[in-house]
Amino acid sequence: MRVLLIYYTGTFNTRHLTQSVKAEFVARGDSVDTIEINSKTPVCDCSGYDLIGFSYPIYGFNAPLPFERYVAKLTVKKGQKYFIYKNSGETLAMNNASSRLLIRKMRRRGGVLVGEYHFVMPYNIHFPFERDFIRQIFEKNEKLRKIMLHNLTHGEVRRIKSNPIYNLGAFFVGIQKVGGNVNSFLYKVDDKKCVSCGKCIRECPHENIYQKGGKIKFHHHCDMCMRCSFFCPTNAIRIGFLEGWKVNGAYDFKGIEADKTPVPEYINSNSRGFYKCFIKYFNAIDADYARIFK
Ligand SMILES: Cc1cc2nc3c(=O)[nH]c(=O)nc-3n(C[C@H](O)[C@H](O)[C@H](O)COP(=O)(O)O)c2cc1C
Ligand code: SF4
Ligand code: SF4
Repeated sequence: MRVLLIYYTGTFNTRHLTQSVKAEFVARGDSVDTIEINSKTPVCDCSGYDLIGFSYPIYGFNAPLPFERYVAKLTVKKGQKYFIYKNSGETLAMNNASSRLLIRKMRRRGGVLVGEYHFVMPYNIHFPFERDFIRQIFEKNEKLRKIMLHNLTHGEVRRIKSNPIYNLGAFFVGIQKVGGNVNSFLYKVDDKKCVSCGKCIRECPHENIYQKGGKIKFHHHCDMCMRCSFFCPTNAIRIGFLEGWKVNGAYDFKGIEADKTPVPEYINSNSRGFYKCFIKYFNAIDADYARIFK
């Protein structure tokens, strides 16, 4: 099978997820190409592929705008099979609405949805996830990837249900529609902290950052992806009205994956507050995995 994985990523969680999904297909003998969307990515020719996978991080209960715009330009053959493997930092039901525009666009082109899966990845905004929590998330993600590949192979179609209330809510919380452009007027770099490494300028997926008179400046076509502030080595970038939710510093995914000690039960039946919603989500993955691979 020829598979094409098309994804957008801000802080590389979706890139990491895509590499794991690709490895899973390749291990079965499939050939896989990947496309990472940024402002320079040319529109691809999808015609030779048996299956297309779409992935994105959820932003304010929606797919990122650069992702939506890229998909709007795609042409696919009638009957083209595709699946979705989106990700986000939490399991809130409102996240279910995030694929509605993608699905509508693909339906109009005659695309056939053969599965939709929601993975959790550590937050790149709000607060950083602890290492033990990420270890448990990765353990469940590995199971979910295997469930996804099994279902895609055996023609078991999984859909994530949304409803008009979630769809309406997601429409109104479409923070990124104007948020990035407006918020980037408020982005500031602390000159005392900045070491002029140029990383933010090089890495911005939308060429929104430049240097003038030795200072870092921002245009106003920001994706709100958080890549600049997340990876800034000296935490010098202030991100406007989201400053209180800033997460700075890459997660040690390599170290976490290399750790072969037993995975701790960070989430368990006593988890409360923010963590409570993960109990049901993790249990559902465990139950599915046991059913399929018993
Ligand atoms: C602007 C913005 C909005 C976000 N909104 C949500 C959200 O509505 N729901 C959620 O669960 N996670 C949300 N997140 C968290 C990301 O979806 C999550 O960390 C994701 O794994 C980031 O993927 P990436 O590294 O590929 O960009 C948001 C992140 C950003 C930057
Ligand atoms: S990444 Fe941080 S330290 Fe490097 S140039 Fe940008 S603001 Fe300055
Ligand atoms: S300015 Fe920062 S948050 Fe905005 S698109 Fe560029 S890297 Fe992403």
